[in-house]
Amino acid sequence: MRITETADLWYKNAIVYCIDPETFLDSDGDGIGDLNGLAQRVDYLAEIGVTCLWLMPFYPSPRRDNGYDIADMYGVDPRYGNHGDFVELVRIAHDRGLRVIIDLVINHTSDQHPWFRKARASKDNPYRDFYVWRSDTPPDTSEESMFPDSENGIWTHDEKTGEWYLHHFLHTQPDLNTANPQVRDAIAKTMGFWLQLGVDGFRVDAVPFAINQTTFEGHDKNELEEPHDYLRSLRAFLARRSSGNGAAIMLGEVNLPHEEQLTFFGGSDGDQLTMQFDFYTNQKTFLALARQDAAPLIEALNSRPKDIGVEPQYANFLRNHDELTLDLLPEDEQNEVLDTFGPEEEHRFAGRGLRRRLPPMFDGDPRRLKMAYSLLFALPGTPVLFYGEEIGMGENLEVDGREAVRTPMQWTDEKNGGFSSAAPSKLARQVTEGPYGPAHVNAADCRRNKDSLLHHITRLAKRYRESPELGWGDYAVLDQPNPSVLAHHVTWKDRSMVLLHNLGAEPVVVPLTLEEEEPGTQLVDLMSEESCELDQDSSTDSQLDGYGYRWLRIKRADDPRLV
Ligand code: NOJ
Repeated sequence: MRITETADLWYKNAIVYCIDPETFLDSDGDGIGDLNGLAQRVDYLAEIGVTCLWLMPFYPSPRRDNGYDIADMYGVDPRYGNHGDFVELVRIAHDRGLRVIIDLVINHTSDQHPWFRKARASKDNPYRDFYVWRSDTPPDTSEESMFPDSENGIWTHDEKTGEWYLHHFLHTQPDLNTANPQVRDAIAKTMGFWLQLGVDGFRVDAVPFAINQTTFEGHDKNELEEPHDYLRSLRAFLARRSSGNGAAIMLGEVNLPHEEQLTFFGGSDGDQLTMQFDFYTNQKTFLALARQDAAPLIEALNSRPKDIGVEPQYANFLRNHDELTLDLLPEDEQNEVLDTFGPEEEHRFAGRGLRRRLPPMFDGDPRRLKMAYSLLFALPGTPVLFYGEEIGMGENLEVDGREAVRTPMQWTDEKNGGFSSAAPSKLARQVTEGPYGPAHVNAADCRRNKDSLLHHITRLAKRYRESPELGWGDYAVLDQPNPSVLAHHVTWKDRSMVLLHNLGAEPVVVPLTLEEEEPGTQLVDLMSEESCELDQDSSTDSQLDGYGYRWLRIKRADDPRLV
């Protein structure tokens, strides 16, 4: 094998870390996190082993949707800094070996964006066709809104011109008409701009909505390109603009069943999104965790389309900045997860998900948390962390809606958790209080404590990086008799590993037979001192504690790696 392949397709064994610049670190004492603050903490992230920063929207925005309502796609909101600060940050990250991707919102803008202001001014305005309008009264679309708590449909009547405009999210986020070649050009130009400033790609927001047929309504279908051609053209543009700098990526948010995700990779051509979050596996993982039964997770892994070619890649995550959405699960399964991990009404968001971080869902059980993060790094694909996960931050249910999980990063046990020197009343978002507040959970304490989640995740990151078979390999779920256990085998070229995770609280023995391996082969546990050897039948029994995990490398004489 050539190890350089892992440098070319760098994202296939990257460790992605998502940051909201508003809540990470405030460097100028105004209560709002900023790019300068973030730059101060790149070394902290490098030390964990993060290899790619994902910056959530930092663009000028009225922030009705945490910055996903963009008023200027080329800008930096002055509250976070300016273009100079952005370039400094990218420069520092690159120097420390980290790549940087940024959110790209192609489905909608803010209603404050100059395009929409002009579009709504008159029906014959050149920007009118940047958005999607209808003149007849829309039917009941209350079921189609992504924010049913605050919107009663996906069309809003515009007084001035007497027509309705489309918005799948808030009415302050009008959907762009992505069938319009001028819109496509404008989006590509935006990508070109940020690539020129050094970014390594984009997390592409709400992709299925952006190529949704409703968005194309009112256009002569015969004249339209196939909607997926739009993604193809963006990917081709990205390749042209990033050649020579190492591959830039599009990591798409596509919350759809596996079969449909395949289309968004571009089928076997692999010419659309470079990566996609695996929402289906995420939701089935939570069902498996709730039941302490690996079966739903096994089903998800087995149903993942494998024929996606070499370049595309799945991104795995446990929690992100949104609610833990369960919408791909049937209702009874949704209810199981909601009842187990969000028993109170205040834990829930829009009836479909949980506005919680992981540690409180597990009642703070450190063994269970460590197992869950081991699983995240061990799943085939690229792991993505949300800021604060590495130290075990909890949510703040005092804060409304999804903001509950977007509280300031907890650096120390000092005022405002070390996030800002401003008066607490001036903070962009309230710091978490109680058992998950900075007095008990903060990065500084975690650094000093070898048993902390931070140390655990740092170790997982190291082992993950030196085991490219996890990001690159073929995988198979192994048969074994314990329902609470996921046992899987990954193999890439001449490298193989067996990974064991016990989702249950009781200890178990996992009998393993690796028929393809020679008797006497050593299985080296990368997470502990305990190794074992295959017997005459190429079998062994592996002990797992309650919520135990093992990363067993199959040791080969010619493997150049240190174990
Ligand atoms: C997905 C983002 O993750 C979410 O936070 C946002 O509200 C919607 N897209 C709309 O942009």
